[in-house]
Amino acid sequence: MRKLAAGNWKMNGVAANLAEVAAIRAAHPAPGVDILLCPPATLLSRMSDKAGAAIFTGGQDCHAAASGAHTGDISAAMLADAGASHVILGHSERRADHGETDAQVCDKTQAALAAGLTAVVCVGETEAQRDIGETLDVVGQQLAGSIPDTATSATLVVAYEPVWAIGTGRVPTLDQIAEVHDFIRAELTARFGDDAAEIRLLYGGSVKPGNAAEIFATPNVDGALVGGASLKATDFSGIITALENARR
Ligand code: 13P
Repeated sequence: MRKLAAGNWKMNGVAANLAEVAAIRAAHPAPGVDILLCPPATLLSRMSDKAGAAIFTGGQDCHAAASGAHTGDISAAMLADAGASHVILGHSERRADHGETDAQVCDKTQAALAAGLTAVVCVGETEAQRDIGETLDVVGQQLAGSIPDTATSATLVVAYEPVWAIGTGRVPTLDQIAEVHDFIRAELTARFGDDAAEIRLLYGGSVKPGNAAEIFATPNVDGALVGGASLKATDFSGIITALENARR
């Protein structure tokens, strides 16, 4: 399995920030892992032009429909047309800000697969859910509800992002990450059989150059989904290098 370092720029970035892409590309001319950057939709086409063959680009959401009267929305085919190979779906910020349900995320994932995109489906508990011991229940429900039966290791990446670790500088213990990633692998194996061993499982939530190596040494962590630290090439490059060097 080739590991994946994914950056989620969220609602950050204008044309000037595309210089970061050139810097990442220059620092990793022949990367030993897959690199994915998901900029705002406004930058997707221009970023894709600058990314070269070594860096994949992706959207941060798509509509479940192929086209139609959905003002402000973007279809999976439009992302693909703009150069995307991936799309993040069901990020906790979309679940919170836009009330996205597992069923809606599943529909969007199906649309992404139909358009030839790889879906990066996000799951993760809130702090309140963890505090009352519901983490695995919540993650299990999100997995079951958000991923369509048609997904395969070639078209699905799963990102575990505890909501309380996103943008907070707080990271679960390595045991906590391992527990959830082992659980996700087991759930996917129960559902998809042997192919589940090849589905990349990313950890996301306050991944930085300084903590990446230990996170990447954790079993069943096949990469990261990085927010803030993906905005600067120097930071993201450190994470990419840590993933390239990861042994477990
Ligand atoms: P941070 O790396 O900024 O915590 O964000 C994580 C995230 O939400 C990536 O999708």
